[in-house]
Amino acid sequence: MDRLVVKAPSGTYTVSFGPAIWREAAQLASAYSQVLVVSDTNVAPLYAERLPFQVLELWPGEESKSLEMVAALVDDWARRGLDRFSLVIALGGGVIGDLVGFAASIYRRGIDYVQIPTTLVAQVDSGIGGKTGVNTAWGKNLVGTFYQPRAVFVDPSVLETLPEREITGGLGEVLKYGVVQDGKLFAQVSRDISAFYQLDLEVAAPVIRRCVEIKAEIVAADERDLGLRHILNHGHTFGHALERAGGFSFYHHGEAVLLGMLLEARLAHLLRLLSREDLVKIEAGLRRVPLEYRFSHLDKGEVLSALQQDKKNKQGRISFILPRQIGSVEEVLLSLEEVEEYWDEVIRA
Ligand code: NAD
Ligand code: GLY
Repeated sequence: MDRLVVKAPSGTYTVSFGPAIWREAAQLASAYSQVLVVSDTNVAPLYAERLPFQVLELWPGEESKSLEMVAALVDDWARRGLDRFSLVIALGGGVIGDLVGFAASIYRRGIDYVQIPTTLVAQVDSGIGGKTGVNTAWGKNLVGTFYQPRAVFVDPSVLETLPEREITGGLGEVLKYGVVQDGKLFAQVSRDISAFYQLDLEVAAPVIRRCVEIKAEIVAADERDLGLRHILNHGHTFGHALERAGGFSFYHHGEAVLLGMLLEARLAHLLRLLSREDLVKIEAGLRRVPLEYRFSHLDKGEVLSALQQDKKNKQGRISFILPRQIGSVEEVLLSLEEVEEYWDEVIRA
């Protein structure tokens, strides 16, 4: 079994890869007093029977990441008699992982949980690193904890049943690792985009593993997101603003991040941080992902107002993680007026 260790300051754990993870997860779980798999109604019918435990199925979708759902979950766990020595297994995408991780972190002051991520986003990003949380009316991921899983099990073959749009979103996160840390990865993935849609595991599985490796290094260095981990926000400043301006329904998160990466690369070039040569490579690489790269419909006022509400803002300035070359980024703070000044150039066709 191929494994990788995440050495987070609050706890060390392994991420295991490949089709044998199901047996290994069951083995690990058998040491606990009780085990419950929490999944959603899309994923459970496909994969839950690979685990010999009771299953709780939730509605899929971002709406399930709520405080009301946390209350319902912990009530359910108490009714089932889960004690401090019980284990919950989060089987699903980032919604299930974030929600179950958060509930596990507060139920009986914290019980063990395991992540079995089943989307590309969750396998390369949300399943690793221990950020848990739910949304409230006041913001996305407003309430949460840093709470590392006991183990993570990644079987890339489950991506076979993932809708295409979710692959696109996941590719945004994968290409982001390339821009922030690994130029070779960016070049390879942008060349091999179709391998993800056709799920060619010879290509996709090592890429997923490399992304987990990068994330593990970042989490080990900055578990609580006080410095280095900020680099994972590349593409997210414009990305969140596009999501917000689209009422959170027009773009999926990963799509907005892909578009945000393109806009932020252009901004970096206008600020003389990124060379034209690297901008051209980034644009060409991103554009190989099938997505409509069109910005003329965007309402400048709405996007700027969304940027003003970004939770990463510092002293009234907007924080961008911008590439200075492919594989390396830095934080740049800009006033709203400065962003406005560059806007027309940034969204040019
Ligand atoms: P998701 O969990 O909503 O899953 C997307 C859809 O795919 C759902 O309908 C789900 O039922 C379905 N699905 C999942 N696996 C499947 C499979 N193998 N086959 C068929 N269908 C499948 O979306 P996501 O993109 O995985 O996660 C998004 C969430 O993750 C957001 O809430 C975001 O805030 C969070 N997130 C957290 C972190 C973190 O560090 N904790 C990082 C990135 C994103
Ligand atoms: N997904 C960003 C982080 O884990 O910090």
